[in-house]
Amino acid sequence: MAIPETIRAVVIKEVRWCASVTEIPIPKLEDDEVLVQVKAVAQILPIRNVYFLQFILMVGYPGTILGCDFSGIVAAVGPSLTTSVKVGDQVAGFVQGGHFKDRGAFAEYLKAPADLVWVVPKGTLSHEEAATLGCGFWTAVQALFHPTRLGLTESPAKVEGEKWVFVYGGSTSVGLFAIQLLAAAGYKVATVSSPRNFELVKSLGATVVFDYKSPNALDQIIAATTPGGGIIGALNTQGASDGQLLAVKAFGPEGKGKVVTILGPKDEAVAYNPNVTIQPTLIYTALGREFNFGEVFPASKEDKDHMAAFLTKVPELVKSGAIKPNRVKLWEGGLDGIEGGLAYMKEGKLSAEKLVYKI
Ligand SMILES: NC(=O)c1ccc[n+]([C@@H]2O[C@H](COP(=O)([O-])OP(=O)(O)OC[C@H]3O[C@@H](n4cnc5c(N)ncnc54)[C@H](OP(=O)(O)O)[C@@H]3O)[C@@H](O)[C@H]2O)c1
Repeated sequence: MAIPETIRAVVIKEVRWCASVTEIPIPKLEDDEVLVQVKAVAQILPIRNVYFLQFILMVGYPGTILGCDFSGIVAAVGPSLTTSVKVGDQVAGFVQGGHFKDRGAFAEYLKAPADLVWVVPKGTLSHEEAATLGCGFWTAVQALFHPTRLGLTESPAKVEGEKWVFVYGGSTSVGLFAIQLLAAAGYKVATVSSPRNFELVKSLGATVVFDYKSPNALDQIIAATTPGGGIIGALNTQGASDGQLLAVKAFGPEGKGKVVTILGPKDEAVAYNPNVTIQPTLIYTALGREFNFGEVFPASKEDKDHMAAFLTKVPELVKSGAIKPNRVKLWEGGLDGIEGGLAYMKEGKLSAEKLVYKI
């Protein structure tokens, strides 16, 4: 495959809050990296995440490439690469958009460490589907399985007996993947979503699902999980809600355990039950590079190694059907369509689906 010297990419402009398609040099590979010809990218979801994308535009550095979730074809590999990833493989993954001038998914080509992509088995997922296993999927993996987060059992191992985990926000991208990952390891999953997504979350492995808007949701969760010994851990996938507090309460008044949450601890939730700890998780730490979100996060080899080890399991999880992609809403226009897609997302019409662009 002929590799071009320059590529088109969505780049943050000097004036923050603004990004546009720009011609830039093709990323230069480090020894252990792969160059991927991007075929599809996914955008993070509705209102709260639009704020997140705007946050990235705000804290992101001018000249850096936007975009995190991708699927594509390996076009070249770094000189000292020892993994089994080969030129021509379909791979998918997650990179930190808005932080680097030569790393970002909204581009015709991107570079990524070879151990932080997974090879999509032939005949399983399209590029559009595989691109949905990015930020949300990785976040669910880190939150549930990393030893310093919930430290739960990873498939193909299975838990014994009845073990319940509560997922607040079962129909978010993070939640949809968390439910599947938990079910694959034999956990029973209690979750909440809108009633329009009850069937979807059940089809992916939720044992019970309740309406997060119902005043009875907490009583229903406790009634469903107490006969099996109550919940042993919880994941809150929602930032702009009372999810943290509900997750703490789901352990019951005498409960002990941990809630892993995608945003920082909220005072009310922390104060509610001192025997239930609240721990935030941030997926960018799994990329093994220092980054600055107003606060400097040092590179975490431990977080990267955990993710790299888990990614080796993903091809089999996908092949067996244990992990299914998020529902795809294809948006026309490729890189040039991303601005319009973002505007559509601001309307808040998406529910339990990912906006995906073909590149
Ligand atoms: N810490 C990290 O590293 C990290 C990584 C990834 C994402 N995040 C954050 O995690 C959150 C989830 O992101 P996402 O990409 O999975 O998708 P998302 O935008 O949160 O998913 C949209 C879903 O949110 C559900 N929802 C809306 N309001 C809700 C509420 N009050 N309670 C429960 N569910 C509600 C809706 O479900 P219904 O249609 O069923 O109502 C909708 O389908 C976002 O806030 C994102 O910024 C953090």
